[in-house]
This record gives sequence, structure tokens and C-alpha cells, in this order.
Amino acid sequence: MSTWQGPPATCSTSPFVIEPTIDAVRRAGEDAAGRLRAAFTLDQLRELAAELLGKQGELAGVKRQLGSLAPDERRTVGQAVNESLALAQVAHDERRALLAAEARRQQLEAERLDLTEITSRPRRGHLHPVTQAWQRLEDVFIGLGFRVVEGPEVESDYYNFEALNMGPGHPARSMFDTLFVDYGEPGSTVLRTHTSPVQIRAMQTLTPPLYVVAPGRVFRRDTPDATHMPVFHQIEGLVVDKGIAFAHLAGTIQAFTEAFFGPGFNSRLRPSYFPFTEPSAEFDIQRPDGSWLELGGCGMVHPNVLRAGGIDPEEYSGFAFGIGIDRMAKEFNGVDDMRELFANDLRILEQF
Ligand code: PHE
Repeated sequence: MSTWQGPPATCSTSPFVIEPTIDAVRRAGEDAAGRLRAAFTLDQLRELAAELLGKQGELAGVKRQLGSLAPDERRTVGQAVNESLALAQVAHDERRALLAAEARRQQLEAERLDLTEITSRPRRGHLHPVTQAWQRLEDVFIGLGFRVVEGPEVESDYYNFEALNMGPGHPARSMFDTLFVDYGEPGSTVLRTHTSPVQIRAMQTLTPPLYVVAPGRVFRRDTPDATHMPVFHQIEGLVVDKGIAFAHLAGTIQAFTEAFFGPGFNSRLRPSYFPFTEPSAEFDIQRPDGSWLELGGCGMVHPNVLRAGGIDPEEYSGFAFGIGIDRMAKEFNGVDDMRELFANDLRILEQF
């Protein structure tokens, strides 16, 4: 038997070094099998397997030394290494089967307990109050003969402002605090500040008579307070037909108010200004207790806006309105502060 010269350089990092003799190898194999059989958890077993059966293990270390042995020794010791590894592997596999079965049993047991703990059916959630208001608004307007259309939330300056009679530098742009998107020419793309751009898109794609509403999310660079959020929702209404007059607008607002809030509610129009309507108005609703609440803006579609939509103002006229959906939800549910609706506090949301 040749004298062992120490581990080859390649395994000098291994802290476990055994002599390349049949006895030492057999002992190492039995030792490994014993340790694997004693593993308490699957994690422990995995670590042990890496230590004992892996490339950095003792037995693998012996394999790397075989080259330095005499040929017949190389064969017998090599065989012993393979047998020891096989022995340890069998121990490992048996232990793993056992531990896995135990883990499964424990899991089933835990799940069984879980099931008995649940005594009532899981509660169903519901739509957010703003979504509820949105859907109710759609229902009411569909009932009044409108159809629902949509436009993009990321909008061009052209649709959001210019086509709505607000050219570059128009002072009325300051009514809409804008968030720009880094897309295309600098300043050419915005998060839409209102749903009014859908008026233009609807006129461009549909042929009159038009009776459409366009609900959606809008954005303004506003600081949140009790009645404002930087992200909020509007529903736009647009009617374009022959012989449409201001009285049709007032009648539609009143019909809508009664349909949405109930018969005790009234509406009124107050003179106002929007570049895209002429004349323009704000509309308020009156609660049964006599108090007023401002709900949105409206007016007769400006001839320039009809033209931008490809419609001849000599032939057609129309009216438009925009209602804040979040304010409707706030009002409808008697919430004092709009921020409450978006704080994701279930104690509040569950009430609606
Ligand atoms: N777009 C306006 C706003 O957001 C509301 C409006 C819509 C006014 C349609 C007139 C006509 O303030």
C-alpha cells in the first residue's frame, strides 16, 4: 500500500478529509448513512445530502485522490467509495420518503383544522362606491337613450385642449392643471384633464345624430382635499342633432337629476364659462332639504368644436356636459371627505 501524500490541491478547501482506504471509506459511508437517517427535517436532510453526497463531500474527495493510488488499490477503494455512496444514497432516499410523508401528514392535519375553524362562508366583497356611481350613471343615461363611448386616458394636447377651442397659450388652459407625459414632442402629450376630448373623438368617428356619454378617469395636478383628487372620474355627455337648443340641455339635466337622485331633487343652471361651450353653465342640484351642490359644467357645443369634430355648425347644433363621478359617489353615500373613498380603509368602504 502506498503512503498517502495528503489531499490533492483541488480538495484542499474541504474540511472533511478521509484516508483513501477501504476501511476508512466504509466507515465514512456508514457514518454518512447514519447521519442522513437521523435528519429531523427535510431541510436538514437537504443540507446533509449536499455535505455528504455532493461534490464537496468526503467520499467525493476520496474519488479525486484515486489517481494517486496503485492500480489495484484504485479499483478496490474506488469500488468501496461507490458502494458507500450508494449506501448513503439509499439511507437518504428512505429518510426523505419518511420525512416527506410526515410533512404531508402534518400539512393535511393543519388544513383539516383550518377547515373546521371556518364556521361561516367567506364574505363577498363589492364594487367600489365610485365604480357603483359610474355604473349607475351609465344605466341612467342608457335609459335616457344615450350610448356609452370611451377615449384614451393619455391624450394629445390637440384633443385635450386645442380641438376644444383652447389653442396654445389660451388662458382657459389654467383651469386645468396638467400632467405631461414624456412622449413625442415635449408638451404634446398629457394625462387628460377632463373627458371632453372624447367629444371630438366621438364626432370624428360617429355620424350625427349623436347621443353619447363617455365615462372615464381623468387627471389634474391638484392637491387632494375634501372635494379634489389628482386622479378622479368624469362622465361626459354629448348630443349633436338638428335643432338642438339650450332648453334640451336644461331638460336633460333635470331628467337625469330625478332619475339618478330621486324625485325630491331639483336642478339649476348658472352662467359660467368654458372655451368649448357657448353659452356655458355650471349645473347644481338641490337636495330635498333645499341646499345646493355643484355637480358639473355644461353648455352648447361651440361651433369651433363642432368644426374640429368634422361637423357643420350650420347644419347641426348640440350640447355637452361633464359630471364629476367621485362627487356623485361622495354625495350619494353621504361621505364628507373625498379622500376617505381612496384611503382603502375597509371600515369605510364596507359601508357602501
Ligand atoms: N370639461 C369640463 C371640466 O372638466 C366640464 C364640461 C364638460 C363643461 C362639457 C362643459 C361641457 O371642467
